[in-house]
Amino acid sequence: MKSLSSTPDAIKPQLIDRFGRKITYVRLSVTDRCDLRCVYCMSEDMKFVPREQLLTLEEMTRIGNAFIDLGVNKIRLTGGEPLTRRNILSVFEALGSQENLKDLTVTTNGTLLEKYAQPLKNAGVTRINISLDTLRTDRFKKITRIGKLEKTLAGIEAALQVGFQKIKLNAVIMNGYNDDEIIDLVDFIRARDMDISFIEEMPLGEIGDHDRAKTYYSSDKLREYLQSNYQLTATTEQTGGPAKYYRFTDNDQSRIGFISPHSHNFCDDCNRVRVTAEGMLLLCLGQQHSLDLRKVVRANPLDDDALRAAIIGAMKLKPKGHDFNLNEQPIIMRHMSATGG
Ligand code: 5AD
Ligand code: SF4
Repeated sequence: MKSLSSTPDAIKPQLIDRFGRKITYVRLSVTDRCDLRCVYCMSEDMKFVPREQLLTLEEMTRIGNAFIDLGVNKIRLTGGEPLTRRNILSVFEALGSQENLKDLTVTTNGTLLEKYAQPLKNAGVTRINISLDTLRTDRFKKITRIGKLEKTLAGIEAALQVGFQKIKLNAVIMNGYNDDEIIDLVDFIRARDMDISFIEEMPLGEIGDHDRAKTYYSSDKLREYLQSNYQLTATTEQTGGPAKYYRFTDNDQSRIGFISPHSHNFCDDCNRVRVTAEGMLLLCLGQQHSLDLRKVVRANPLDDDALRAAIIGAMKLKPKGHDFNLNEQPIIMRHMSATGG
């Protein structure tokens, strides 16, 4: 297979969209399946994509490499739950061995990390994000519908044990669900030198659990509440994603990030695109614009020129931004698990 990333003098063209934004970050969803059913993410009886429609592990790797050839330096593998995909380590290993990839990261719910933390570290994963919205056993069950808190906590400890630095928790705070645990979650990360990002719930897919307008808890309210409990200072730090970070004056190891699709639009400096488990290149989390990369890789099994050309061509499809509105039916019917977090 011809891949520019294996040649030392690889030319590094950039992916640039119509608004001058450079695309350097790709999130690859490796499965839409998950061993949990979080109430903000999925409905109770989800229909998943038939396995034969998923990209193969080899196809995912080809697509990841094509993006690296085009100047992408950060790839996040996500899902659904990426660690439930069989033999997924081979994709981590293949991408992790690419010199031009600066950051290889994963978003996981942590349930399988006891087994995978060390192999992920060995494969070259640089950073792990773990989704955790509550530290209470009964609530974890309520929010994830089927999960066991101990599994995720054991996964977090395993990731710390093998030496991952700056592990980040992702927490979706919802009125009436877990808004009384904000301080507990922050104390949890501070005690472990971890970061946390608080994410405003996004209207992605029908979930059949709650009215998202009623559970909405804004980042501004959250920040004010935190500021009455901790001394925080705003930073200009970027980790390549949409979070705005704050640091504590009494602890320089941990940070708090806010991901605020509703209260602060994060589209202006968007540097990322997503690929679904079926190989649809999504140019925006909150819009339908897409290109079928599975079709392109299958039509051109032996060389990646057409794949790279298709990706470059898709940049003109990237819209200016999302238009999420909590008071309307979701316009995006894809769930986060299908979109890739
Ligand atoms: N809104 C906001 N965050 C969501 N996640 C899943 N669904 C939603 C949603 N509708 C979060 C998960 C995970 C991250 C990838 O996305 O909690 O941490
Ligand atoms: Fe699974 Fe993450 Fe969705 Fe929860 S939020 S159901 S852990 S993909």
